[in-house]
Amino acid sequence: DKTLRLAVIEGDGIGHETVPEGLKVLDAALEGSGITVETTPFDLGAGRWHRTGETLTEEDMAALAEHDAILLGAVGDPDVPSGVLERGLLLRLRFGFDHFVNLRPTRLVPGVVSPLADPGDVDFVVVREGTEGPYVGNGGTMREGTQLEVATEVSLNTAVGVERVVRYAFEQAAKRRGRLTLVHKHNVLVHAGHLWRRIVEQVGAEHPDVAVDYLHVDAATIFLVTDPARFDVIVTDNLFGDILTDLAGAISGGIGLAASGNINPTGAFPSMFEPVHGSAPDIAGQGIADPTATVLSVALLLEHLGHDAAADRVRRAVDADLAARTDAAARSTSEIGTALADAVRAL
Ligand code: IPM
Ligand code: MN
Repeated sequence: DKTLRLAVIEGDGIGHETVPEGLKVLDAALEGSGITVETTPFDLGAGRWHRTGETLTEEDMAALAEHDAILLGAVGDPDVPSGVLERGLLLRLRFGFDHFVNLRPTRLVPGVVSPLADPGDVDFVVVREGTEGPYVGNGGTMREGTQLEVATEVSLNTAVGVERVVRYAFEQAAKRRGRLTLVHKHNVLVHAGHLWRRIVEQVGAEHPDVAVDYLHVDAATIFLVTDPARFDVIVTDNLFGDILTDLAGAISGGIGLAASGNINPTGAFPSMFEPVHGSAPDIAGQGIADPTATVLSVALLLEHLGHDAAADRVRRAVDADLAARTDAAARSTSEIGTALADAVRAL
């Protein structure tokens, strides 16, 4: 029998409510597989910061690194200054564990209402670069508080960093419908844009089976609203990917359904799976948060660890549950989690 060592970071707000439901479904999906899930809770997030002033220590990183994967609920708290948890915890995990692929699938499941009148068959994945771009913190402030203040935020793009994520995106496209769209803004961001274009062209030569296309990020937002069915795999930089995946969530039933994987495909570090939504302090503690995005993140986790059949059952359980939902039958967080776990067992 094998053990799946899972580090669990509930984080803040509704993370405390959705993560236990994700774990319920994970257990259900692995029942009878001979794999035992062994979870280690990590106290990270606003609570820890308020108590100790710590966001993430070297010891935390070393302990997390001993695991096969990480499940994260949400981090963020209105009483913590902006950037503290984002940079000090979430981005530190992504950068420290070299999660260069930020995988964000978007599927409009039958029965789910899209704000688009005629969305068509929406099923694409955004492969967002996760360790570079404007997120690296490469910048600074001069003459702060004066009329002559200068602030820079420099986007870092390396050939190695772009190539590895572009390769991953081509592999995804080859396994899917064979279409890859690079999204950038090379008419303005000429330096980084040129690098991304050249590398997509080079790697594309190894994938004659994948049709490559290019959109400026502004045009991409138009097509995501007018014709999202045209997309199969989108590959893009860290910031464009952040923005596009919120839009992708919005057209496919809301951010409450959007899952993501922060992946290091080499296996050198544990990959981390998290819903795209935040800690939702406005509804936290009421037991009404929808755990579906966390459950779908568990499906990505299972797939990443090679348990494709289990991942598939989780997705099918979610699809069936979404198709049967009605406004009249509002369920609690744990009712949805239990229903999904039961459905997974029955498949
Ligand atoms: C996301 C979030 C994060 C990001 C923030 C919280 C740092 O918006 O996961 O999309 O910008 O990547
Ligand atoms: Mn975001």
